[in-house]
Amino acid sequence: MKSVVYGILIISFATILSSSDSSPLAKLMRQMLTFVKTEKLLIEKNAPRQKFPKQFALIKTAKVTPGKKLSTDHAQYIQNFQTELSTYYNKEVNRKEQFNKVVNTCINCHQRECPGPIQTIEQNIIK
Ligand code: HEC
Repeated sequence: MKSVVYGILIISFATILSSSDSSPLAKLMRQMLTFVKTEKLLIEKNAPRQKFPKQFALIKTAKVTPGKKLSTDHAQYIQNFQTELSTYYNKEVNRKEQFNKVVNTCINCHQRECPGPIQTIEQNIIK
């Protein structure tokens, strides 16, 4: 249990250190990555889910880096992400499979809009 706490602390500090001078959407995305990494650790330790991340609703309105182009399906990608995330909080589902579905909704949008972080995101798929 201790190692989970240290893992989470390290991830959080890394997030804070890398979060200056970027768009509100990019900052939110880093929180989303932290969430996913932390949740993966918790699943592996069979520990309870984090509190539902209500702040991720800001994905709809947070300003994107000027000049970055969003896809015509942007709203649909957001919807898919939010749906799979809510389902993840339904205790009846297979937690690991549903977590991977959430991570796949990140990857699907990124393939169209922002390929850079795909590898980093993919590392969170649980085999
Ligand atoms: C609806 C599309 C979409 C979804 C879904 C999405 N992203 Fe993103 N993501 C973006 C866009 C667009 C950017 C670029 C933001 C900017 O530069 O303002 C981005 C940027 C990022 C970044 C780089 C942030 C930085 O430092 O510049 C990371 C990391 C990231 N996303 C992780 C994730 C994770 C993890 C998920 C799922 C939990 C996710 N994203 C879901 C569209 C999406």
